[in-house]
Amino acid sequence: MKKLLVFALAVLAMVGRVRADEGMWLPMFVERLNYVDMQKMGLQLTPEELYSINHNSLKDAIVGLGSEAKPRGFFCTGEIVSEKGLLFTNHHCGYSAIQKLSSVEHDYLKDGFWAKDYSEELPAPEMTASFLIRMEDVTKDVLGVVTDDMDWDARNKAINGKIKELETAASEEGKYNPVIKGFFEGNEYYMFVYQVYTDVRLVGVANSSIGKFGGDTDNWMWPRHTGDFSIFRVYADKDGNPADYSKDNVPLVPKHHLPISLDGVKQDDFTMIWGFPGSTERYMSSYGIDYNVDTFYPIIIDIFGKELEVMDEFMQKDDAINLMYADNHAGLANTWKNFIGQCTMLRKNKVSEAKVTLENRFKQWVGESAARKAEYGDVLPNLKKSYEDLSDVAKYIFYPNFVAQAGPSGLATAFMGYYMAAQSKDKEMEAAALMELQGMDVDGMFAETNPQVEHKMYAEMLKTYKNAFKAEELPEIYTVIDKKFKGDIDAFADYVYDKSIFATPESIKAFIAKPSVKKMEKDYAFQVSQQMTGVLRQHGLDYRNTMNDIRKNDHLFVKGLREYYAATQPEKSLYPDANSTMRMSYGSVKDYMPADAVHYDYVCTANGIIEKYVPGDYEFDAPKRLIELIEKKDFGPYADENGDLIVCFLSTNDITGGNSGSPIMNGKGELIGLAFDGNWEAMSGDVNFEPRLQRTINVDARYVLFIIDKYAGATNLINELDIRKSEPQPIREVEETEN
Ligand code: ARG
Repeated sequence: MKKLLVFALAVLAMVGRVRADEGMWLPMFVERLNYVDMQKMGLQLTPEELYSINHNSLKDAIVGLGSEAKPRGFFCTGEIVSEKGLLFTNHHCGYSAIQKLSSVEHDYLKDGFWAKDYSEELPAPEMTASFLIRMEDVTKDVLGVVTDDMDWDARNKAINGKIKELETAASEEGKYNPVIKGFFEGNEYYMFVYQVYTDVRLVGVANSSIGKFGGDTDNWMWPRHTGDFSIFRVYADKDGNPADYSKDNVPLVPKHHLPISLDGVKQDDFTMIWGFPGSTERYMSSYGIDYNVDTFYPIIIDIFGKELEVMDEFMQKDDAINLMYADNHAGLANTWKNFIGQCTMLRKNKVSEAKVTLENRFKQWVGESAARKAEYGDVLPNLKKSYEDLSDVAKYIFYPNFVAQAGPSGLATAFMGYYMAAQSKDKEMEAAALMELQGMDVDGMFAETNPQVEHKMYAEMLKTYKNAFKAEELPEIYTVIDKKFKGDIDAFADYVYDKSIFATPESIKAFIAKPSVKKMEKDYAFQVSQQMTGVLRQHGLDYRNTMNDIRKNDHLFVKGLREYYAATQPEKSLYPDANSTMRMSYGSVKDYMPADAVHYDYVCTANGIIEKYVPGDYEFDAPKRLIELIEKKDFGPYADENGDLIVCFLSTNDITGGNSGSPIMNGKGELIGLAFDGNWEAMSGDVNFEPRLQRTINVDARYVLFIIDKYAGATNLINELDIRKSEPQPIREVEETEN
């Protein structure tokens, strides 16, 4: 899930307060902006228990999952659920790390993995856990370096310099990782100070046929029966400080961990989700939406669709290839389907139209004052023009970029530096470039790729390019293909794979031993790379300048919009777009109607797994043992009051990609599930929140515990968790009804 626009709703409803469901709020302002609302809806914690920099609070259990030691953003969210640093996140968040730990013999994606004790836990490559220590408004400092006479580039340079300076000062000699981010399109700046733990280990994960049940067919959709969770543990040195992996490290004793509730959910129950939403576009202009729907998304859908077709063909018949491409495929498929959904739903939900209404009101308000006209009079016409320019240039950027990265041409692109140096006739430069060639990890360039898949992909990318352009616009190489290969791109690709320097590690190594500019020039793979990067170079500056104009005008537009709202709807609180910083979203458990006469319940049960189950299917297979447990209704303490097992449930919380793995909590701050997806009918939600349609899909904590306990038998973990169930209070209920 991605980004949105706050406006249509506000404009249509014209109400004072923003509806509670909508908004990704900064925890630091909870008391001022949200607390009263939250309390009315069912929150029982105090503001201090939610977010405090002096005491342990709920925010201390929320973790940003990154892939570096000093991440500036997070691919997912996790939450600490025990006194020993145990961390829950989604299956699809652990996916990449689990793939890297797997082999065909030990395929943890396929078969799952459960450590029986600490000693069996597996250090997860490239996974770090960031804890937020504090956040702070640094707008005055950052914007203090900006002067009126600066152009956009100079302004950015000054801002970035100041950001670096402030971050360095706050890092306390590298102890912390401070990250400053712009909000409201660079109209405000906040600093987030993190402590980053780099020793994170895999503890438990169910088979993909549980964790990814329903695959890409069910992805982005409800009803959903996916057990989308995986379990890691954060390790620290003996003093509880971050430390790189060492066998002497110990489980982190966290400042706070989330208890887990067995109480389950009812319609309208209060829910809150904390995490790190990646990006939304709620302040995007109608022109930006039209550009995405008409130009940008269709290009990416076209390219990713072809790549996925090729991967699918090979993955489904070969276990090794299936594992090798699993993460890459999942990422592409997720974005591909998301973009298709966005194209459909941005139109269907009339998001651009709602923006036009807002923009017209804005224009009218601007027109009422000479000062406003001077400042904002051009901003919308400028955005319109810039997006038209961007639409013209987009295909000359994205298509060649993908071809230049494909197969042997992609590898040839890595030799462009050498080629240019050798051509320059500057002996020193050439010698340096040669040294660089000799240091290349050639085998590494082929690692984790399969030649059959890459070969087919190469041909398909060349075809995709050809289909996207008029004949007279095609680079030279297509004339060669026509003349020498009778227009047969497959035959051309076969030839390249047979003859090119860049087709195999051996031929590349032979070339490095005896490099020659002439040989490169004759190489078709290199020619493709040269010509595609040529197209990129020809249009790259236009693209960059246009993007800069858009950012500049977005900055101005949002500045104006905030003034417009302050003047016309002073009661309305605005929240900033998601930008991979910690946010809080609150709402409630709720069903919805996806279409006329169709009602979707807010929970689904394990019976749905049986209904969807297709033995041996790529997406809808399920472990035999799971099917047996469900058929026997052997759910232990995790069943609901009807004896059913709830698998997933819906809530109105406002989230997006990056929130994956986030805890969804009840009014007591207890974990009731993990957020993992959004729903199809509201795929426009990153641009505009749709209160009637937009839902977060959560895996129920009881299903998570059922899998850990009854399915996997990992009672060691069950014992470690802080599981709570409220006492039933029947007597008071009777009294109340009698009154
Ligand atoms: N749509 C989910 C998200 O973006 C990811 C789901 C992964 N599952 C899958 N079948 N690809 O957070």
